[in-house]
Amino acid sequence: MAEGLGVGICGLGTVGSGTFNLLFGNRAEIESKVGTPVEVRLVGCRRDHPDCDLAGTRVTRDIFDVVGDSEVDVVCELIGGTDAALELVRGALDAGQHVVTANKALIAEHGAALFELAAEKGVQLRFEAAIAGGIPIVKAVREGLSGNRIEGIAGIINGTSNFILTEMSGLGNRGFDEVLAEAQELGYAEADPTFDVEGIDAAHKLTILSSIAFGVPLAFEHIYTEGISAVTVDDIRYAQELGYRLKHLGITRRRESGVELRVHPTLVPETELIAKVDGVMNAVLVSSDAAGTTLYYGAGAGSLPTASSVVADVIDVARSVGATHAVSNLGFAGGTSDARVLPIDETRSAFYLKLTVEDRPGVMASLSTTLSEHDISIESLIQKDASGGQVPIVLITNEVQESQFDAAVRAIESADYTQGEVTRIRVVAFN
Ligand code: HSE
Repeated sequence: MAEGLGVGICGLGTVGSGTFNLLFGNRAEIESKVGTPVEVRLVGCRRDHPDCDLAGTRVTRDIFDVVGDSEVDVVCELIGGTDAALELVRGALDAGQHVVTANKALIAEHGAALFELAAEKGVQLRFEAAIAGGIPIVKAVREGLSGNRIEGIAGIINGTSNFILTEMSGLGNRGFDEVLAEAQELGYAEADPTFDVEGIDAAHKLTILSSIAFGVPLAFEHIYTEGISAVTVDDIRYAQELGYRLKHLGITRRRESGVELRVHPTLVPETELIAKVDGVMNAVLVSSDAAGTTLYYGAGAGSLPTASSVVADVIDVARSVGATHAVSNLGFAGGTSDARVLPIDETRSAFYLKLTVEDRPGVMASLSTTLSEHDISIESLIQKDASGGQVPIVLITNEVQESQFDAAVRAIESADYTQGEVTRIRVVAFN
């Protein structure tokens, strides 16, 4: 094998082109850090990328040529999806090649078997770029905070949905559909925006983070996922009046009875730093026993930010190849804990509740009686102007178990003073 570390890039789209250009542009810097050259020795791509000068680089149109290529020590899987990507990663690990991937769906859904295969073959499978693009959150949790007991993680880990909510929260009074169309025009949203706005992309990322933080097996099938397509500008405005910002959060927290694992629209007190993360930016907040609360902020997508994480993983492989200590995937703790993932009705949140009631004496008293019968108290409340004999009421409760809140909502919805359906949004504070 040639001297140095040979890299094979599979896929020359947004992330692949950034990875190619970063490895080439910073090659001297990288060599000085690693002590040996790190070279792209083969690129597998269906077509060239206008931003990449491939002259002098071996190129194949069949990405599977990279698997087992004698000059490639590390395969960067940057094609996305879970069909060809799974076959490619399996093949590379099986051939004794290290793999670096940016593919969150692949790790969240097939990670357990892939890590097992990597361990069996004595190679590394790294995935920093799969979560929050350029933010080195995997390394922060796995290495920087490794001496801590992690208590919880909350993240804005999908830039598209954060962009949409930020725009809906602005002065333009723009609704979900209008802002989604703009996000698509700007190229933020995935080709199929469902993954972004319905929380599936965030759920993939959170599943992996939870597994790293708590050692629970990758449990994508158990995560609770709710998107932002039903969010209204009215709810955002009312919540703002009460001092909250609406964010699409992934939350995973350690509780005595298990681990919370959920993605949903969440109201956060406006004074918290994470509430101020706007536009396409990502942020991940980690609560741990020694370091306390730490917050990581940066670009969650994009060519060079995501490539930054891919290249960091390649460099980690380069540094550890030939090391005398065993560098394995054991830092990936998935499967070392048997804590169960809590169903959503066992999680705890405060709640925003909006309902329309009849405009007559005693209604407010009845509403607070119903809540107190379910052991729920009101933290704040606004009553809007009455019109046509009806009054909108918006309130925030204390923190309660979700099943307890569900029961109260059922009672309120069936009360004779309630007009139509109620709206509820979870409220979570981190400080
Ligand atoms: N579509 C994702 C986002 C980026 O909007 O954050 C890639 O994970």
